[in-house]
Order: sequence, then C-alpha cells, then structure tokens
Amino acid sequence: MKEITVPAPAKINLALKIKGLRSDGYHEVELIMQSISLHDRIRLRKNDGGIRLTTSDPSLPVGKKNLAYRAAEVILDYVNLPAAVDIHIEKRIPVAAGLAGGSTDAAAVLVGINKLFGLSLADEVLLELAAGLGSDVPFCLHGGTAFAYGRGEKIRQLPDIERLDLVIVNPGIPISTPWAYTQYDRSGKKSNLSVNKLLQIIEEDKEIDWQEGWGNDLEGIVLKEYKELPLIKERLKAMGAQFVLMSGSGSTFFAVVEDQKQGEEIRDNWPDKKDFVTIAWTVKKDFPELW
Ligand code: C5P
Repeated sequence: MKEITVPAPAKINLALKIKGLRSDGYHEVELIMQSISLHDRIRLRKNDGGIRLTTSDPSLPVGKKNLAYRAAEVILDYVNLPAAVDIHIEKRIPVAAGLAGGSTDAAAVLVGINKLFGLSLADEVLLELAAGLGSDVPFCLHGGTAFAYGRGEKIRQLPDIERLDLVIVNPGIPISTPWAYTQYDRSGKKSNLSVNKLLQIIEEDKEIDWQEGWGNDLEGIVLKEYKELPLIKERLKAMGAQFVLMSGSGSTFFAVVEDQKQGEEIRDNWPDKKDFVTIAWTVKKDFPELW
C-alpha cells in the first residue's frame, strides 16, 4: 500500500462536567463525546524520507506545532521506522472551535499510518500514543459515542445512539481551552450535572429527553465573557431547535433539530453570513459512512 485517505470527524460534547482541578494542572472531567459527520480528510503517502505536511488551510502550522505532524513522529518512532510520509490535511472543521479538529487529525494519522505501514499495533498502544498527544485524541481513534473521564483521555465506548440531526454554528471566535478552565476555577462554581443519569439513558438505549440536564460546565463562563455568543444560542432556539449547547470550550454551538430538512432551513436562513453554519448528524463508532 502506497497511499491511504482517512476521515477525521469532529466531536461534540453531549455533556461536559468538571469535577475539580488536579495536582497536574488538568481538570478531572466526565464527558459524553459524540462524533459527527463534519470531517477533515487526511491523505497519507509513503515518501523516501522525512515528514512533509501540507494543508488546504494556509493558517495552520505545518511543522511540529501541528498535532498531526507529531502523531506521525511518535508512531514511527515507537516502531523504530524512519519517518517517511507525506500528510495532506483537507480541512473542513473550524479551527480552535471546541470540535477537537486538531485532535481528530492526529488520531487519523495514527490510524492511517498503522494501516499504511502494516504495523498492526494493538488498540492499547494506539490509545497510549494518543493520550500523550492530547486529552481528546484517544476518543478520536474510534469516535462514535463514548464516556470519557480522567482528564478526558480514558475512554469507555458506549452503544451508538440513534442518529441525531444537527446544525453546527461557529462564529469564528477562537477560545483558548486553558483560559476557559481557569475562568471556571476562578468562578468557584460547582457542577450539578448528573452524567451518570445520562449514561444510563444511552446504555439502556432510552429516548434522550433534553430536559434531563444535559449540559456543559464551561458554557456559562464563556457566554458571560463573549457577549455575542448568547445570541447564537437564542437564535437557534427561536428557529426551532430542540436543544442547543456549546461544544467543548467553544465557540461552536450545536443544535439538535427535528430532521435534516429543518436543519437545512436554519442553515439557509441564518442571518449572520460571516458565521460558519453547516448541517451535520451523529455518526457511529469507526464512522463507516465517512470512509
Ligand atoms: O490535553 P490537551 O493538551 O488537549 O489540553 C489542553 C489544555 O486544556 C491543558 O493544558 C489544560 O489547560 C486544559 N485542560 C484541562 N483539563 C482537561 C483537559 C484540558 O485543564 N481535562
């Protein structure tokens, strides 16, 4: 095999609970992670020496500052192979948006190099390499629906939920994840999200009731600081969405809608043309529909 193209889906957090600050500076969290159809595509090709990264988005770094580049380094180093791969990222997921765009590209590089070079590395090894790259990377290896805990790197796969149709809105305001967590600490807030209850709903395949307390502990903090964001949430609700929540540390919002048609109507009538607005839907583990 000389070349492979791997899909790299974005994630949303159906729930994000902060349990507390740890001694290593990270936060103990409980997350319900969900992959969605919005995805980057990563093309990997063997070359005769070195790692060369190119991307369709000129604003992205192409060296070690790009997590996808580091992913190629760590996996080839792990198996003592010389680095010899071209990586091209076709970027569709908004950057610094709370959608794990960088993490999913890195995970796709791990999965892709494992296949391209016939490494047959066990899942546990890939998970460990992924955890060294970032808290969201282990989830992105398989995606689907999962419970993530620890600093977010420990994964318990959950049954795939029934397809939810979504609208994704990103106003292009980059939000720093460390900043959002620090603001949360300063606020002295205590989380009252009951992730266990939500887990039970998914594990027992019960219908999701959006009144149940699905939520994101970082949302209030971010909405308070960035005054233009509450309007997005209100607008999505006014346009008929069932449920709207910020993903990760923002500034992306996802809206659960009735069906794809309602999603398209919201997208087509979205008043603020500078926003990134797309329809999407939830995808299953290993995202077979995206390959
Ligand atoms: O693991 P990752 O490099 O993606 O995390 C980026 C930053 O987000 C961390 O340096 C930390 O400031 C914050 N973070 C956190 N608690 C987590 C995950 C991330 O405080 N569980």
